[in-house]
Amino acid sequence: MKTMLLKNGQLLDFATGARYTADVRLREGKVERIGGDLLGEADEVLDLADKLVIPGLIDLHIHLREPGWEEKETIATGTQAAARGGYTTVACMPNTRPVTDTPAGVRRILQMNERQGCGVRVLPIAAITQASSGSELTDMAGLKEAGALAVSDDGVGVQSPRVMKAAMRRAALVDLPVVAHCEEEDLLVPGACVHDGDFARRHDLPGIPGEAESIHVGRDLLLAEDTGVHYHVCHISAESSLRLVREAKARGQRVTAEVTPHHLILCEEDIPGPDPLFKMNPPLRSSQDREALIQGLKDGTIDFIATDHAPHTAEEKRKEIREAPFGIVGLETAFPLLYTHLVLTGELTLAQLVERMTRFPARAFGLPWGVLKEGGIADLTVVDLAAERVVNPQEFASKGKNTPFIGWKLKGWPVITLRAGEIIYRDPELG
Ligand code: DOR
Ligand code: ZN
Ligand code: ZN
Repeated sequence: MKTMLLKNGQLLDFATGARYTADVRLREGKVERIGGDLLGEADEVLDLADKLVIPGLIDLHIHLREPGWEEKETIATGTQAAARGGYTTVACMPNTRPVTDTPAGVRRILQMNERQGCGVRVLPIAAITQASSGSELTDMAGLKEAGALAVSDDGVGVQSPRVMKAAMRRAALVDLPVVAHCEEEDLLVPGACVHDGDFARRHDLPGIPGEAESIHVGRDLLLAEDTGVHYHVCHISAESSLRLVREAKARGQRVTAEVTPHHLILCEEDIPGPDPLFKMNPPLRSSQDREALIQGLKDGTIDFIATDHAPHTAEEKRKEIREAPFGIVGLETAFPLLYTHLVLTGELTLAQLVERMTRFPARAFGLPWGVLKEGGIADLTVVDLAAERVVNPQEFASKGKNTPFIGWKLKGWPVITLRAGEIIYRDPELG
């Protein structure tokens, strides 16, 4: 496809939050022109009247499971799920089999995505420590050169402050962000599966306290201080963690944080019973934590939204809650969930939501995508804000059907996704 004309779409002016109608002409994978009533030849013309046209969504925290856990997800199915959810760029975590802890492992993911991916850009995150076992550091210079976006031992916290400090020093030298799953295992009891709060007490389940997270956040902020490293907090969930990040930002520290859609929309009070579909790490916390997260997302303490898309097989998720694995899928429901439950409820404006799923994650990690402008790369998502559908995991492209949002009626579904001017997803109902 050389040229494409998108007619009559609704664009967002992020300075004012206003919506306006415009045409967008794409050429050779770039946005050539944005304007009223663009004429001229194009190889393909799409009429997008009443549809929203936004920069392609960016999710910097997902689990693709390949290599090694192909029964849960593959690069093919995971990228299809991403495109279906309106995402043009994703970053995948290294807790595969083997763990992505070598330059060859990073190159292998990039190569698999070239061959088997559906066109979504995949940015591999490599491990901080070998096999993410928390002791020997990885070859960060080599990982960076191979194309790693950052390093993370996501799935587990780095337990030793000595190892974390050394990791930060090494990562700073090659300017790789350290992306932290914050969890102090000394505060965990065996079988801990939900937030250590009202729900855990009522159901007599072992809980994961908020401080298990915030102790690591506080520790890491201290350790990072004189290294100059870019320190990023994964899936922030506790108000106490937020307080620490807010204070560090006020002091000018190089720290960023992400929050998941489920921590913004659900809290422990919404868990119907001991159901593994509501089990994720960190867990759904108190309503006070949830309110603090929304506030933090609004005021910039939290930089952006990432799904932590964590597919598991139905068989594993059928286990008893203490035994089932942590994690829920997120790619195919994130935008409509957040639009319906944060924008339509008046918590965030549409422009604020879109920025937190596009330009802000790009800015936090220095990526060139996430904006819709003339001369920019034509990564675009078209959303039907009026479309109302019920979440049905059987329709997911992801192999993971593990969502607590089954049956929820949502508005604002992505209908077309373009990466560098190429359509990588198109809703079959569009015809
Ligand atoms: O819920 C989660 N699932 N949290 C994690 O930290 C890991 C992830 C996974 O890999 O399933
Ligand atoms: Zn994690
Ligand atoms: Zn994760």
